Amino acid sequence: MSKNKVLVLYAHPSPRRSEVNQPLFKASQQVEGVTAVDLYHDYPTYNINIDREQQRLREHDIIIFQFPLYWYSTPSILKEWQDLVLEYGFAYGSEGTELHGKKFLCSLTAGGKEDAYQTEGYNHFTIRQLLYPLEQMATLTGMQYLAPFALFGARTAREDDRISTHVTQWKALLNSLVNDDFDYKQAAKVEKLTMCLNQPDSEEKA
Ligand SMILES: Cc1cc2nc3c(=O)[nH]c(=O)nc-3n(C[C@H](O)[C@H](O)[C@H](O)COP(=O)(O)O)c2cc1C
Repeated sequence: MSKNKVLVLYAHPSPRRSEVNQPLFKASQQVEGVTAVDLYHDYPTYNINIDREQQRLREHDIIIFQFPLYWYSTPSILKEWQDLVLEYGFAYGSEGTELHGKKFLCSLTAGGKEDAYQTEGYNHFTIRQLLYPLEQMATLTGMQYLAPFALFGARTAREDDRISTHVTQWKALLNSLVNDDFDYKQAAKVEKLTMCLNQPDSEEKA
């Protein structure tokens, strides 16, 4: 079976206060075939090394942004990373084909509950809709966009004892991606990725 190289680009501005993303990041560091990068650690002054980041992209098949949802979007370093790294002639434009054929997804946590992320809900939009700029970034750069892997109600996850299940699902997801044992077509269509995994997603709805 062919193996994929998976790149996790993790962005949390206050990792010491993180209850969910930090354990997810630690778990991804332990999965063979996954390169786990802590962007705020590597670039505390946002002095992103474009050549190094572009080289990392070339060397991986699947790119993952991992972050807590901040103002319905990514923490700011992931925007800066896109602005600097996804250059014309590298990621787009007639000769910018370096990302063609790769896959892209987000692994995110949100403070809001899942039922708030509905058309009729408190936040009016689904999480997949709120991530449309990232979906279109992936499409424009020739990557296949996969639905996000998400944990809702993240700030009560610890007291509700939902973190370990989520970490287990995350490791299962990463292993499936590394081993190319994954239904990409289905994952491109659904609202969020837990539906694709052969595991219950009831903890998000609790
Ligand atoms: C500046 C800031 C903005 C936030 N914006 C949102 C938001 O738009 N939607 C939401 O559901 N939660 C929002 N949250 C809550 C975080 O998403 C939540 O605390 C985080 O996912 C928990 O993960 P962690 O334990 O790894 O920090 C925000 C938190 C902060 C600090």
